[in-house]
Amino acid sequence: MTGGRTLIEAAPMGLDVKRIREDFPILGQRIHGRPLVYLDNAATTQKPRAVIDALRAYYEMDNANVHRGVHQLSERATEAYEEGRRRVRRFLNAAHEREIVFVRGTTEAINLVAMTYGRQAVGAGDEILITGLEHHSNIVPWQMLCEQQGALLRVVPIDDAGEVHLEDYLRMLGERTRLVAVAHVSNALGTVLPVRAMIEAAHRRGIAVLVDGAQAAPHLPVDLQALDCDFYAFSGHKVYGPTGIGALYGKTALLERMPPYQGGGDMIKSVSFEKTTYNDLPYKFEAGTPDIAGAIGLGAALEYLEGLGRERVAAHEQDLLTYATGLVGALPGVRLIGTAREKAAVLSFLVDGVHAHDVGTILDREGVAVRTGHHCAMPVMTRFGVAATSRASLGLYNTREDIDALTTALERVREIFG
Ligand SMILES: Cc1ncc(COP(=O)(O)O)c(C=O)c1O
Repeated sequence: MTGGRTLIEAAPMGLDVKRIREDFPILGQRIHGRPLVYLDNAATTQKPRAVIDALRAYYEMDNANVHRGVHQLSERATEAYEEGRRRVRRFLNAAHEREIVFVRGTTEAINLVAMTYGRQAVGAGDEILITGLEHHSNIVPWQMLCEQQGALLRVVPIDDAGEVHLEDYLRMLGERTRLVAVAHVSNALGTVLPVRAMIEAAHRRGIAVLVDGAQAAPHLPVDLQALDCDFYAFSGHKVYGPTGIGALYGKTALLERMPPYQGGGDMIKSVSFEKTTYNDLPYKFEAGTPDIAGAIGLGAALEYLEGLGRERVAAHEQDLLTYATGLVGALPGVRLIGTAREKAAVLSFLVDGVHAHDVGTILDREGVAVRTGHHCAMPVMTRFGVAATSRASLGLYNTREDIDALTTALERVREIFG
C-alpha cells in the first residue's frame, strides 16, 4: 500500500485538463452550433475565473489610485498592485522587484528599451542584431532607432526549418554590435531559440541582450537569473492575464543608468521649474496612473499558471504539439511551415490551392478558431515565399479532441475546395 502510494506520488502528474477547462468560462460556448475549439492562443489566451474574479474584486472593493493616498482604499490598491509585481518577479525568477517595470505589453517594453537604453548605447555606424523570425514589435522599434541614430539593423538568417544557427549569429556579432534583440520563441513558427548561448556570446563581447519573451512566458519555465539577459519582455494577455498589462525586466545597473521613458506623475521625486529629480526604480519608468487592475489580474494569472505547474503545462503542450504535428502534417495537401527541432505550441501550415483566409473562415464555421495572415511577422512570410499561413497555437486547456476537431475541419476544407 505504502509502496504503491510512493510510486503514484513519484510519477509525474499530468494536467487534469477536463477540470482545468471549467476554470475558463468562455470555453463552454458554442460557435456556429459547435463547441468552441480555441486554437488562437499565440494571439491571446482566455482568462481563468481566478483572473476575472481578481479584476472584479479590485473594482468592487479596493479601487483607488496607487502610491498617492494614505486612505484605506489607496493603501489596499497599492498593496495589491505591488503584490502583482512580486508575482512577476517570482514568475521570471528575477533578482529584485525593482527590476520589474509594468508596461502595456511586450510592444511597449521593447519601445521603452529602444527609446532609452537604445538612444544612449547606439550611435552612428553602430549595429543592432536581430533574427529573421522576429515579430514586428521586435523589428520596427529598432528600425526607428537606427533611423534616428544613423545605425544599422542586421538580421541573422533563418533556415528552411525556421531555425537560427548559432554559427551565423556568432559570425554576425561584430565590433559595432551594441545590442542584440531576439525572440525566445517565434510566434509565427514556434521555434525556440538558443537564447542562453546567444546571451553568453554577446556578453563575452560586452553587448547587452533583450529577449522578447511574449511567446515563451506562456509555455516555458523562465529563469532570468539563469538566462542572465539584460532585458526581458512579456505580455499579460498571452499568459492568461488581462490585456493592457505586461512587464519589462531590466538589470538594475542598466535601468539606473537609463533616462526615463515618459515624464509625468509618479516617476519623479521632486519637481521644480529649475530641476526635476527622478524616482527610484522601477517607478522612474512608470509615469502616470498605471493599469492597476491589470497588474492585479496579471498577478492572479501567474499564480494560476504556477499553481498548475509550468513544467506540467509545458509537457502537456509538447504532447499536444507532437500529436498535432503528426495528424496535420499527414493530411494530403497540407504543408507545415516551421519544423524546427525545438518548438513550442505553434503549428503554422498551408493548404494547397486554398488561401489561408479561406481556410480560417471554413474552420470558423466548424467552431475552430485559428489565426490566418502574416502573424505580424511579414519577413518570415517573405522568407518562406508565402503571403500568409494558417496558425493553430495551443494553450494549457487544449486537448487531443481539439486537435482531432482541427483535423476534421481541415478535411472539410479539402472537400470544399476539391
Ligand atoms: C513574439 C512576439 N513578440 C511581441 C508581440 C507583441 O505583443 P503585444 O501585442 O502584446 O505587445 C507578440 C504578439 O503577438 C509576439 O508574439
